[in-house]
Amino acid sequence: MSDPTHAAIERARSLIDAADRIVVLTGAGVSAESGVPTFRGAGGLWKTFRAEELATPGAFARDPRLVWEWYAWRRALVSECEPNAAHFALARLALSREGTTLVTQNVDGLHARAAHEVADEMACPGDATRAMPLELHGDLFATRCNDCGRDAGEVTVDATSITTKSVAELPRCARCGGLLRPGVVWFGESLDPGVLGAATAAAEGADVALVVGTSALVHPAAGLAAHTLARGGALIEVNPDATPLSDRATVALRGTAGAIVPALVD
Ligand code: OAD
Repeated sequence: MSDPTHAAIERARSLIDAADRIVVLTGAGVSAESGVPTFRGAGGLWKTFRAEELATPGAFARDPRLVWEWYAWRRALVSECEPNAAHFALARLALSREGTTLVTQNVDGLHARAAHEVADEMACPGDATRAMPLELHGDLFATRCNDCGRDAGEVTVDATSITTKSVAELPRCARCGGLLRPGVVWFGESLDPGVLGAATAAAEGADVALVVGTSALVHPAAGLAAHTLARGGALIEVNPDATPLSDRATVALRGTAGAIVPALVD
């Protein structure tokens, strides 16, 4: 059950085929083959920093310029990336199977881009929303005020010139003058209750939880699949490495998302 043999893939496929409702939870690994570095694997450090050191309200309070520099670098990197075979296959699944909910921890927007492309190909552009993921950790390209919370839309922050800026020159809120910050969820902050509630309800109602490319270390996302297991549903994990979820997986498929996900759902 722990290698992506033909039999294991067929078992996972038949669970997916038989399911009325499917919840898909993705993490950074689903975007690795698009060129987006994962957080905890090789290349996960930016300069010498781990995500937990920069993605916090405390880090932003101490050094907002450094935190903006990291996000500006990530925005620039992700802008050069394209969705991969796994994003496209999951978008096709969500568009072709009504009871499918995509949930992601990623902030890179690649699932949404795949949703639009696949909906266009299937000549149903209006349906792209059905393949839009619930973004548990927000959106890398959104910006909001750190003080009043106002949504500032898309604000361009240049990764190179920001290194020469003073704090006074960082982008500010048009309403209250507070510092703007990336529209993502940081460690120590609560997830949007509406988004988390919808993801939890999807997991609680699913016959299959398909968990792709996450180390399953960050909660509450890491706990979602347990809701599916608790109602007697199946857990299918796609990851080259074992995670804390692997022992509970009905089928654990060791391999990359780009190779395995299309084989499971197309
Ligand atoms: P991690 O970087 O913790 O884990 C990535 C997972 O993807 C690992 O388990 C890898 O084995 C796996 N992986 C690597 N390449 C893969 C591939 N080609 N196909 C499939 N899997 C692959 O990323 P997340 O679990 O997403 O949060 O991290 C969770 C959260 O921690 C992130 O959303 C972010 C981070 O710090 C915040 O910033 C709040």
